[in-house]
Amino acid sequence: MQIRLATRQDADKVRHVHLSAFPEGEGEVVSELAVDLVSEETTPPTISLMADVDGVAVGHVAFSPVAIDSINDLQGYILAPLAVRPDYQKRCIGSQLVESGMQRLTDMGVGILFVYGDPKYYGRFGFSVEAAEGYVPAYTLRYPFGWQAIVLRDPGAKMSPARIACVASLNDPALW
Ligand SMILES: CC(C)(COP(=O)(O)OP(=O)(O)OC[C@H]1O[C@@H](n2cnc3c(N)ncnc32)[C@H](O)[C@@H]1OP(=O)(O)O)[C@@H](O)C(=O)NCCC(=O)NCCS
Repeated sequence: MQIRLATRQDADKVRHVHLSAFPEGEGEVVSELAVDLVSEETTPPTISLMADVDGVAVGHVAFSPVAIDSINDLQGYILAPLAVRPDYQKRCIGSQLVESGMQRLTDMGVGILFVYGDPKYYGRFGFSVEAAEGYVPAYTLRYPFGWQAIVLRDPGAKMSPARIACVASLNDPALW
């Protein structure tokens, strides 16, 4: 298994991975998001990682920057979306995608990584609801218990609550 940066040339592979992993209905929305993110140009950059097995794309994750108001020197990112093809699940591919992304973000000096997903899955990487407390996304969350974060670098003094703003692809209330 190899993890590499995905580019806009991988759009069809990215779409296929998410369509295969998420249930019908959700798959269309999430795969559109994943494809949008792979070509959205942001500063700092949105990072898209692909897991290949024998040259076949089997997993994908995206990490996009979030702006945190009132804390100028804290760079945040959000992990979304993540998927592994059903026939390749439970082989640690999802874990390696998450961990590889977290390592890249740490090396970049990123302070905090958010995720909106199942705490039972993301808890294993150290994400917690507590770490996300006080950081308010732009939309009302349908599943507030899924709003989590992991601190990658000590944020120092925090003005609370701090509003966070996501990249354009994530600015859709249907995703929250
Ligand atoms: C979540 C997902 C990416 C994990 O990929 P993976 O390559 O199977 O992950 P890993 O092999 O690293 O970990 C597998 C473990 O995660 C568990 N897991 C998967 N989804 C889970 C969830 N929603 N909640 C809790 N545990 C979950 C599996 O049961 C397995 O547990 P085990 O280690 O005790 O056997 C994959 O199941 C997937 O694509 N699911 C559909 C899309 C999705 O829900 N994505 C967002 C997650 S919030």
